[in-house]
Amino acid sequence: MAAVERRLEIRAGSHAYPAVVGSNVLEQAGAELARAGLRGRVRVVADELAWRCHGARLLEGLQVAGYAVAFTFIPSGETAKNLATLSEVYDWLLKVGVERGDCVLAFGGGVCGDLAGFAAATILRGVPLVQVPTTLLAQVDASIGGKTGIDHPRGKNLIGAFHQPRLVLADVGALATLPRRELAAGWAEVVKMAMILDAALFAELEAQPAALLDMEPALTARAIARSIELKGQVVAEDEREAERRMVLNYGHTIGHAIEAVTGYDVFLHGEAVAIGMVGASLLAERMGLLSPADRARQDALIAALGLPCSCPGLRPEALWMPMLQDKKARSHRLTWVLAPGPGQVALRRDVPTSLVDAVLHYLTTSTESPPVPV
Ligand SMILES: NC(=O)c1ccc[n+]([C@@H]2O[C@H](COP(=O)([O-])OP(=O)(O)OC[C@H]3O[C@@H](n4cnc5c(N)ncnc54)[C@H](O)[C@@H]3O)[C@@H](O)[C@H]2O)c1
Repeated sequence: MAAVERRLEIRAGSHAYPAVVGSNVLEQAGAELARAGLRGRVRVVADELAWRCHGARLLEGLQVAGYAVAFTFIPSGETAKNLATLSEVYDWLLKVGVERGDCVLAFGGGVCGDLAGFAAATILRGVPLVQVPTTLLAQVDASIGGKTGIDHPRGKNLIGAFHQPRLVLADVGALATLPRRELAAGWAEVVKMAMILDAALFAELEAQPAALLDMEPALTARAIARSIELKGQVVAEDEREAERRMVLNYGHTIGHAIEAVTGYDVFLHGEAVAIGMVGASLLAERMGLLSPADRARQDALIAALGLPCSCPGLRPEALWMPMLQDKKARSHRLTWVLAPGPGQVALRRDVPTSLVDAVLHYLTTSTESPPVPV
């Protein structure tokens, strides 16, 4: 496979930036920064595990192009995405020195990208940001679109800013060290993109789920690039989530609630989204929007990727509170993102409460995979 498989342009407001997808993109990081017009020093904030696996390739790629690089680590995992870690990153940036012409480079999964991105958005009132995502979820989702931030004890992602990166470098080879469970959780977001926006991508995914889990290189790079492209198109239409960007919430209404009631500790984000997509497809089918055959296709793909289709043991009533508190619920009215078929999406505010109750009851009692209709 060629080193650079795809070079995409992401547009957000007046801003446009490249997203480069390929197999040896880390080695070319310096050349890509120069091409993007970034000429100052590089301040790398790295997930410590990602750095251990792939940091040397990035460092070499930057230094060979003459960049002055300093790096620091943040601990691995969601619990690091907080004010204390952010404060340490600010201290470090101010200690090693950072100027408006320098850039902050986030190297790691979505946790690192969000936190380092927020540091870049706020230090000196904003310095350029380069996203170098090293998890599948971060490559297809978190690194694209400019959302940055940290968690607060009262909830996830409650403090943050929109700060578009100047460049995104997605090295598919970096995914080789990702645990299979993290990989499957990342594929859940790709299934989401395909289900709402691209029937052809959906067909490609459902034809070879095993190849996705084995990370067949050409397929993986193609699916990642297409997902980035799709997210980029949505962000271009609605950078600040006024309406259109809400479609990306497919599976997330129930998914976020599952994460909240389980303390973000039982399911990976993509796993919770997978269950949420099963729930959303049941709602869509019962509302006459989605055919039983297409619902079965979606759920079969989710199951084939080894993702959960239900969350037995949770209390359906407990899921309501976080759903209504979600910052995207307007005046306590839920906007449901439903998929009338692969590649189609509809925002609906008229889903009957009794139907949601029935679906939540089903999801919390079913142990079948893929599930049968309610
Ligand atoms: N900004 C956005 O638009 C957006 C979108 C979706 C999710 N997010 C955020 O992203 C976060 C989740 O991201 P994530 O799933 O990448 O989790 P993560 O950043 O916690 O990474 C998952 C695990 O993989 C490890 N890791 C990273 N790269 C690796 C590699 N190449 N090999 C082996 N291990 C590696 C990490 O150390 C961590 O243990 C959440 O905080 C979520 O809120 C943000």
